[in-house]
Amino acid sequence: MIVKGAGQEFWRGIPAISQVFKPDTQPESYVPDAATHDMRMYAPFTETVASRPLWISPQRNMWCDILLATSAGLVNRHYHPHEVFAYTISGQWSYLEHDWVATRGDFVYESPGEGHTLVAHEHEEAMRVLFIVKGPLIWLDRNGHADGYFDVHDYIAMCRTHYEAVGLGAAYVDGLFR
Ligand SMILES: [Fe+2]
Repeated sequence: MIVKGAGQEFWRGIPAISQVFKPDTQPESYVPDAATHDMRMYAPFTETVASRPLWISPQRNMWCDILLATSAGLVNRHYHPHEVFAYTISGQWSYLEHDWVATRGDFVYESPGEGHTLVAHEHEEAMRVLFIVKGPLIWLDRNGHADGYFDVHDYIAMCRTHYEAVGLGAAYVDGLFR
Protein backbone atom coordinates (compact mmCIF):
# COMPACT_ATOMS: atom_id res chain seq x y z
CA MET A 1 0.00 0.00 0.00
CA ILE A 2 1.36 3.42 -0.96
CA VAL A 3 0.98 6.21 1.55
CA LYS A 4 -0.23 9.24 -0.36
CA GLY A 5 1.60 12.54 -0.22
CA ALA A 6 5.25 13.32 -0.02
CA GLY A 7 5.72 14.58 3.51
CA GLN A 8 8.63 13.89 5.83
CA GLU A 9 6.57 12.66 8.76
CA PHE A 10 8.36 10.37 11.21
CA TRP A 11 6.00 7.48 10.34
CA ARG A 12 6.80 7.35 6.62
CA GLY A 13 8.95 4.23 6.94
CA ILE A 14 6.46 2.14 8.91
CA PRO A 15 5.02 -0.69 6.80
CA ALA A 16 1.24 -1.07 6.70
CA ILE A 17 -0.33 -4.25 8.08
CA SER A 18 -0.38 -6.78 5.24
CA GLN A 19 -3.45 -8.74 6.31
CA VAL A 20 -5.93 -5.97 6.99
CA PHE A 21 -9.25 -7.78 7.04
CA LYS A 22 -10.31 -10.97 8.80
CA PRO A 23 -11.90 -13.38 6.31
CA ASP A 24 -15.49 -12.60 7.30
CA THR A 25 -15.29 -8.88 7.84
CA GLN A 26 -16.52 -6.15 5.53
CA PRO A 27 -14.45 -3.40 3.93
CA GLU A 28 -14.11 -0.05 5.60
CA SER A 29 -16.27 2.84 4.52
CA TYR A 30 -14.84 6.18 3.39
CA VAL A 31 -17.27 9.00 2.70
CA PRO A 32 -15.60 12.26 1.70
CA ASP A 33 -17.27 15.57 2.49
CA ALA A 34 -19.82 13.91 4.75
CA ALA A 35 -21.63 17.14 5.64
CA THR A 36 -21.70 18.24 2.01
CA HIS A 37 -23.55 21.30 0.75
CA ASP A 38 -24.84 19.25 -2.22
CA MET A 39 -28.53 19.17 -1.38
CA ARG A 40 -29.17 16.12 -3.56
CA MET A 41 -27.49 14.01 -0.89
CA TYR A 42 -30.12 14.84 1.74
CA ALA A 43 -33.33 12.81 1.81
CA PRO A 44 -36.35 14.62 3.24
CA PHE A 45 -37.07 13.17 6.68
CA THR A 46 -39.70 15.62 7.88
CA GLU A 47 -41.10 18.72 6.15
CA THR A 48 -38.22 20.79 7.53
CA VAL A 49 -35.38 18.35 8.25
CA ALA A 50 -33.39 16.16 5.87
CA SER A 51 -30.85 13.38 6.30
CA ARG A 52 -27.74 12.30 4.45
CA PRO A 53 -27.02 8.64 5.15
CA LEU A 54 -23.35 7.87 5.82
CA TRP A 55 -23.53 4.33 7.21
CA ILE A 56 -26.43 1.92 7.50
CA SER A 57 -26.57 -1.39 9.35
CA PRO A 58 -29.75 -3.35 8.68
CA GLN A 59 -28.53 -6.13 11.00
CA ARG A 60 -28.05 -3.78 13.94
CA ASN A 61 -31.04 -1.56 13.10
CA MET A 62 -28.63 1.39 13.18
CA TRP A 63 -27.61 4.23 10.97
CA CYS A 64 -25.24 7.19 10.95
CA ASP A 65 -26.25 10.34 9.14
CA ILE A 66 -25.91 14.08 8.82
CA LEU A 67 -29.15 15.71 9.88
CA LEU A 68 -29.74 18.99 8.06
CA ALA A 69 -32.11 21.91 8.56
CA THR A 70 -31.53 25.02 6.48
CA SER A 71 -33.90 27.09 8.65
CA ALA A 72 -36.18 26.42 11.61
CA GLY A 73 -36.89 22.68 11.72
CA LEU A 74 -38.78 20.00 13.62
CA VAL A 75 -38.58 16.26 14.15
CA ASN A 76 -41.74 15.68 16.09
CA ARG A 77 -41.92 13.90 19.44
CA HIS A 78 -40.59 10.38 19.60
CA TYR A 79 -39.16 7.82 21.98
CA HIS A 80 -35.84 5.95 21.72
CA PRO A 81 -35.63 2.46 23.23
CA HIS A 82 -31.92 2.56 22.37
CA GLU A 83 -29.07 5.01 22.52
CA VAL A 84 -28.33 7.99 20.27
CA PHE A 85 -25.05 9.91 19.83
CA ALA A 86 -24.81 13.34 18.21
CA TYR A 87 -22.01 15.73 17.26
CA THR A 88 -22.91 19.23 16.11
CA ILE A 89 -21.07 20.44 13.02
CA SER A 90 -22.90 23.73 12.50
CA GLY A 91 -26.05 25.61 13.36
CA GLN A 92 -28.08 25.36 16.53
CA TRP A 93 -30.54 22.77 17.79
CA SER A 94 -32.13 21.47 20.95
CA TYR A 95 -34.87 19.29 22.36
CA LEU A 96 -37.98 20.93 23.77
CA GLU A 97 -37.54 18.66 26.78
CA HIS A 98 -34.06 19.92 27.83
CA ASP A 99 -32.69 23.36 28.63
CA TRP A 100 -29.41 23.19 26.68
CA VAL A 101 -28.92 24.40 23.12
CA ALA A 102 -26.31 22.57 21.04
CA THR A 103 -24.08 24.47 18.68
CA ARG A 104 -20.88 23.86 16.66
CA GLY A 105 -18.66 21.36 18.45
CA ASP A 106 -21.23 20.16 20.98
CA PHE A 107 -21.66 16.45 21.70
CA VAL A 108 -24.87 14.85 22.94
CA TYR A 109 -25.64 11.35 24.22
CA GLU A 110 -29.23 10.26 24.71
CA SER A 111 -29.77 7.29 26.97
CA PRO A 112 -32.05 4.43 25.99
CA GLY A 113 -35.51 5.26 27.27
CA GLU A 114 -35.68 8.96 26.37
CA GLY A 115 -38.49 10.71 24.56
CA HIS A 116 -37.91 14.11 22.96
CA THR A 117 -38.83 16.64 20.28
CA LEU A 118 -35.95 17.88 18.12
CA VAL A 119 -36.00 21.48 16.97
CA ALA A 120 -33.55 23.34 14.72
CA HIS A 121 -33.16 27.00 15.64
CA GLU A 122 -32.92 29.96 13.30
CA HIS A 123 -29.20 30.58 12.83
CA GLU A 124 -26.82 32.10 10.32
CA GLU A 125 -25.58 28.59 9.50
CA ALA A 126 -27.67 25.55 8.58
CA MET A 127 -28.00 22.90 11.28
CA ARG A 128 -25.70 20.00 10.44
CA VAL A 129 -25.46 17.28 13.06
CA LEU A 130 -23.78 13.90 12.82
CA PHE A 131 -26.12 11.38 14.45
CA ILE A 132 -25.54 7.73 15.28
CA VAL A 133 -28.96 6.23 15.88
CA LYS A 134 -30.00 2.77 16.96
CA GLY A 135 -33.58 2.30 15.90
CA PRO A 136 -36.42 2.41 16.11
CA LEU A 137 -37.83 5.86 16.77
CA ILE A 138 -41.29 5.41 18.26
CA TRP A 139 -43.51 8.32 17.26
CA LEU A 140 -45.58 9.71 20.14
CA ASP A 141 -48.91 11.48 20.12
CA ARG A 142 -49.67 14.58 22.22
CA ASN A 143 -50.33 12.40 25.24
CA GLY A 144 -47.04 10.54 24.89
CA HIS A 145 -48.59 7.37 23.58
CA ALA A 146 -46.99 5.34 20.80
CA ASP A 147 -48.28 6.39 17.41
CA GLY A 148 -46.12 4.49 14.91
CA TYR A 149 -42.43 3.82 14.44
CA PHE A 150 -39.49 4.52 12.16
CA ASP A 151 -36.63 2.06 12.00
CA VAL A 152 -33.67 1.28 9.76
CA HIS A 153 -35.92 -0.33 7.15
CA ASP A 154 -38.04 2.80 6.87
CA TYR A 155 -34.81 4.81 6.71
CA ILE A 156 -33.48 2.67 3.86
CA ALA A 157 -36.74 2.99 1.93
CA MET A 158 -36.79 6.75 2.47
CA CYS A 159 -33.22 7.14 1.21
CA ARG A 160 -33.68 4.83 -1.77
CA THR A 161 -36.78 6.73 -2.91
CA HIS A 162 -34.98 10.06 -2.67
CA TYR A 163 -31.73 8.96 -4.36
CA GLU A 164 -33.71 7.45 -7.21
CA ALA A 165 -35.77 10.64 -7.57
CA VAL A 166 -32.72 12.92 -7.77
CA GLY A 167 -30.99 10.71 -10.33
CA LEU A 168 -28.26 9.23 -8.13
CA GLY A 169 -29.94 5.83 -8.16
CA ALA A 170 -31.45 3.81 -5.32
CA ALA A 171 -28.45 1.47 -5.33
CA TYR A 172 -26.26 4.21 -3.86
CA VAL A 173 -27.87 3.43 -0.52
CA ASP A 174 -26.91 -0.25 -0.65
CA GLY A 175 -23.25 0.76 -0.85
CA LEU A 176 -23.54 2.21 2.66
CA PHE A 177 -24.60 -1.09 4.24
CA ARG A 178 -22.17 -2.62 6.72
FE1 LIG B 1 -34.43 11.38 18.63
